[in-house]
Amino acid sequence: HIAADPTSRILGWYDRHHRDLPWRISPPMAARGERADPYRVWLSEVMLQQTTVQAVKSYFALFTSKWPTVTDLAAAETEEVMKAWAGLGYYARARNLKKCAETVAFAHGGRFPDTEDGLKQLPGVGDYTAAAIAAIAFDRQAAVLDGNVERVISRLHAIDAPLPGSKGMMRGLVAAMTPAKRPGDFAQAMMDLGATICTPKRPACVLCPLNDACMALANDDPQRFPVKAAK
Ligand code: ADE
Repeated sequence: HIAADPTSRILGWYDRHHRDLPWRISPPMAARGERADPYRVWLSEVMLQQTTVQAVKSYFALFTSKWPTVTDLAAAETEEVMKAWAGLGYYARARNLKKCAETVAFAHGGRFPDTEDGLKQLPGVGDYTAAAIAAIAFDRQAAVLDGNVERVISRLHAIDAPLPGSKGMMRGLVAAMTPAKRPGDFAQAMMDLGATICTPKRPACVLCPLNDACMALANDDPQRFPVKAAK
C-alpha cells in the first residue's frame, strides 16, 4: 500500500464520508458530470456565512420552495424576503441577497457568472463566496478558504504566523493542493473535514485522512492552531 498524496486522500475520504446536504450533489453524480445549481450553491453559501449547517437547512428549504430560481427571488417583494430571512440574523446579508438576485436576473439573463472574477462583481459576493461558487457549481480550480479550511491548513503545516496576516499564505497553500479534477468536491471535502474531524476542540485525529502528514499532530498540539493575532 502506497500512501497517496494529501489531495487524493482528502477526496477518498470525501467519497466515503461526505455529508448529504440539500444544496449538494453526491460525488458519484459529480463524477458523471452533473453540477450543483449555482443558485442553490450561492444561496447556501450566503446563509452559511454566519450560521451553522443545521440551522440553515430549514431556511434553505423555505427559500427554495418559495423561490425555486434566482429570477423568482429577484421578482419577490423585499418585505417577503426579509420575513423569510427573519431568525437568520445579519439583515444586511438579506438585502444584499435580494440585490444580487436582481443583478443576476436582470443584468445577466438569470445566469450566474461562471468565473471567480465575474462572481466577485456581484453584490455581497466576496473572495470566499466567489471561490466557493466557482469551484462547486462550475468546477473551476478556485482556492476556497473559510474558517474550517483555515483550521485544517494551519494544522497540516503548523503555521505559527497569526491570522489574519497568514491568510494569504494559507490561500496559496490551499491553491497548491486544489486539483484540476474535482476542485468542487475538494473544496467541500476540506470544509467537511474541518467541520467534523478537524474541529476547534478535541479534533478526531485518529479518523483524519491527513493524520500521517499533519505537522501539528506530529508536534502533539493541533488545538494551538490556527494562531490568532493578540487583540
Ligand atoms: N460551510 C460553508 N459552505 C459549506 C459547504 N459548501 N459545505 C460544507 N460546509 C460549508
